[in-house]
Amino acid sequence: MSQPLRLGIAGLGTVGGGLLRLIETHATRLSETAGRPIAVAGVSARTRAKARATKLEGMSWFDDPVALAASPSIDVFVELIGGGDGTAKAAVEAALAAGKAVVTANKALLARHGAELARLAERYGTTLNFEAAVAGGIPVIKTLREALAGNRIRRVYGILNGTCNYILTKMQDEHRAFADVLKEAQAKGYAEADPTFDIGGFDTAHKLALLTSLAFGTRPAFDQIDVEGIEGITQADIEAAEDLGYRIKLLGVALKTESGIEQRVHPAMVPQHSAIAEVSGVTNCVAIDGDSVGNLLLVGPGAGASPTASAVMSDILDIARGGAPYPFCVPADRLQPYTRATLGRHQGAYYVRLAVYDRPGAMAAIAGRMGERHVSLESIVQRRPRGAQIGINARGQPGEPTPVILITHETTEEAIRAALDAIHRDGNVSEKPQMVRIEPL
Ligand code: HSE
Repeated sequence: MSQPLRLGIAGLGTVGGGLLRLIETHATRLSETAGRPIAVAGVSARTRAKARATKLEGMSWFDDPVALAASPSIDVFVELIGGGDGTAKAAVEAALAAGKAVVTANKALLARHGAELARLAERYGTTLNFEAAVAGGIPVIKTLREALAGNRIRRVYGILNGTCNYILTKMQDEHRAFADVLKEAQAKGYAEADPTFDIGGFDTAHKLALLTSLAFGTRPAFDQIDVEGIEGITQADIEAAEDLGYRIKLLGVALKTESGIEQRVHPAMVPQHSAIAEVSGVTNCVAIDGDSVGNLLLVGPGAGASPTASAVMSDILDIARGGAPYPFCVPADRLQPYTRATLGRHQGAYYVRLAVYDRPGAMAAIAGRMGERHVSLESIVQRRPRGAQIGINARGQPGEPTPVILITHETTEEAIRAALDAIHRDGNVSEKPQMVRIEPL
């Protein structure tokens, strides 16, 4: 039998634990597929004395993940520490400089430093694989890098964060409060160590930056993404969306426009009967529009120990079999600079929720502000929350704010934002207007 492929795994949290279990339970199948045994030679984690489902017997323990990364006792460094800088970056750099192949699930690290790390991998004649960094178990990196390499991609978008999709689904199906569902997602191991990365849209943005780079051949440009999270989405929005024939999803969208590449992360209304609306719970999806292939939709588990470990293992097996693709499809020096499209020019329809003081002239003033900016309204509904009685407004008191839902015709981001700022300033609403884009699919 050939020599084993020796792994050094840094980070034994949800994904690291899942990977150890997979290696233990699938040993025979893995060695058949790899053509050699897969062995865990060394591990490193924050706490050594911790109860773990898998025993660490036979594996060398390293307090310092950077030392593990460069150790002559390993062939492949598997980075599951997380974080865009600091230890994870130092360890990956050390591994590449020592000529080790690297497998990482670290989207934050790659979104920030991907091009530079890819260059390092090329310089030292090794490889950097990151299938698990985007959409957990969905094989989207390989799909873009390999299966669709012959296409010009027009647009790539999707539901890229399991925690947010889980929260929005439960808020809709079970009418539960945001905070309550978030706690559940954390307990199930879906959420990041700091869940504001999930709900604030940054985790989606990290993943989108990688998809954009692979789809359009540009350097990852995380800091050029317009990011909005789901913190502002209320039960009132979820109910209104349902009544209007939509569902609210947190989307990451990247597309080519005349002025450059548009990258945005935000909650969006998607038609209730679209395939993407059906993607519920922790499930992710990635839609890719290619000129040759047409439209693809990949759907699958986007987070959790086992699906993410499955993606990490596919990268390890590629290395065992001798595959060494360019991390971002083309040599790092051929990645193009990213040119950002002007989001103000984004064209689309919008959902707006206003808490309007119930007094004469308020609606006329609001419609006037929309008209000044040439925003045309498709519908206006004065809406009581479900369960409220006819004849009284949201809080049941005359003169108190009442929810009004507007749907606009297609307009620009610039125009709708300017109109809503003016409406807020006029004082006919009790809070900042809520705005959600209606995404054409
Ligand atoms: N926190 C992430 C999610 C994990 O909820 O999708 C996978 O990146």
